[in-house]
Amino acid sequence: MRLSPPGSRHRRRMTAIAAAVTAAAVVTGVVAVQPGAGAAPLRQHSRLTIGAAISNSHLGDALYVNTWRTEFSGVTPENEMKWDATEPIQGQFQFGPADTIVAQAQSAGMRVRGHTLVWHGQLPAWVGNISSAATLQSTMDNHIRGVAGHFAGKIWYWDVINEAFSDDAAGSRRSSVFQRLLGDGYLEHAFRTARAADPAAKLCYNDYNTQTANAKSNAIYAMVRDFKARGVPIDCVGFQTHLGGSAPQAAVQSNFQRFADLGVDVQVTELDDSTSSATTEAADFANVVRACLAVSRCNNITFWGVTDKYSWITGQPLLFDGNYTKKASYTAVHDVLAAAGTPADPPAGGTLTPGSVVSLRATTACCTDRYVRHQNGAAVTSPISSSSPALDKADATWVVRSGLASGSCLSFESRNAPGSYLRHRNYVVYRQVSDGSAQFDADATFCPQGAKAGSGVSLASYNFPTRFLRHYNNTVHIASNGGPNAFDSTTSWAADVTWAVTGPWA
Ligand code: G3I
Repeated sequence: MRLSPPGSRHRRRMTAIAAAVTAAAVVTGVVAVQPGAGAAPLRQHSRLTIGAAISNSHLGDALYVNTWRTEFSGVTPENEMKWDATEPIQGQFQFGPADTIVAQAQSAGMRVRGHTLVWHGQLPAWVGNISSAATLQSTMDNHIRGVAGHFAGKIWYWDVINEAFSDDAAGSRRSSVFQRLLGDGYLEHAFRTARAADPAAKLCYNDYNTQTANAKSNAIYAMVRDFKARGVPIDCVGFQTHLGGSAPQAAVQSNFQRFADLGVDVQVTELDDSTSSATTEAADFANVVRACLAVSRCNNITFWGVTDKYSWITGQPLLFDGNYTKKASYTAVHDVLAAAGTPADPPAGGTLTPGSVVSLRATTACCTDRYVRHQNGAAVTSPISSSSPALDKADATWVVRSGLASGSCLSFESRNAPGSYLRHRNYVVYRQVSDGSAQFDADATFCPQGAKAGSGVSLASYNFPTRFLRHYNNTVHIASNGGPNAFDSTTSWAADVTWAVTGPWA
């Protein structure tokens, strides 16, 4: 069990609450009502990425890894990307533990949040002892380039700056070596440096005790509004959301909405709850999930750990207990996500928009029950009926993402394995994790080239416009336009490249 770390008032407060919580824990007991047998895992239910902070030191615990891979669609390395782990000695970078976590996440089709490039916490002494502004500026730039450059193409969102504001009533800046030597400007400088180091990543400002309106979140709001007005490359605000037994949905939702209205994405980045009451925790987590679902630019909820036994907080702060049993809070989160269902299916004959959830059904007379599905990385067409196993259906469901070109070109991200896309390579079609390269993006983008009569649409490769997504003998591949007229429905070839866009199963 991890002791609460020393450090800021925030942590001392959390420690104090945690200690009180432990004493009271024996009083409160709620029998967790498990979700129905065969209920889909958290990652299945929602347009949200549901992540967990993962520590390299627990990857030898099979239950830890299995629970993570089964239930979650995202990851944040808990400590492995911080400055003390990645550049403990000036200019000497080490990424082994973080690379291990990233590789495991990519193999599971998960999205990776990077945490964190610039923070006063877990900062090596050699940085804290710098007394020259010029030296610190170049040191910070070198660190950002070194770390964000190493992971370039693999990070969904970076916590570029963590906890730069204090907890005082004025919402003032936190004192740190960065603030003292470089002033307020270090933040936007870090965002600009991070953008240059990894253009594929979205960039966040991350802080705690900010999930409702208060002096701190108001100060952050003012900073983000200024950044957006001046074109500073910020894409997101991360709300750590370490709860102490309270999460009023309306207040959280309105606070998230006001940031979204500034034009940034909203993410819950470190959710846990130090309350001793299982009932309160379940209600708190449900409120946070509902608040996020209600704000269209809120796209992620990361829990700060998988199991209570490894949490930084003493007590019962997470979804799984020390035996990896689902708690009442798991059921509460699961049921809110399930009730929210999936994003609206594309209206029959309606236009596809980014975020539409679709399945691609073959229109060939022989095979109208066959759908493009991924299996072990390969793309196949296979029969899928309403009684097919959940995994079959989930593997045949794709989220439409905007493609490289403006207009109708589309890329199809697996809904069951977020972060991985339908891609072709040497005529064969796969589901693969994006590496952020232009080649990959082009191979994973398909442009409707007119449609057969009715709802069918043919999908040509963005990279090779004369080659179309086609199925043949149940395999899916890219084939050049072999017929006199690719959309002439009289030839079987043309039918094999035409897909009906249908809504996913419930
Ligand atoms: O790596 C050393 C190890 O060599 C040594 O043997 C061991 C015992 O002293 O300590 C290990 O370092 C610990 C580190 O976690 C890695 O396990 C530090 O002592 C410990 O203080 C550190 O705690 C982390 C804490 O940040 C540091 O402030 C927690 O695991 C981590 O969950 C927590 O996460 C932060 C977020 O990054 C930012 N938001 C707040 C959140 C909670 O504090």
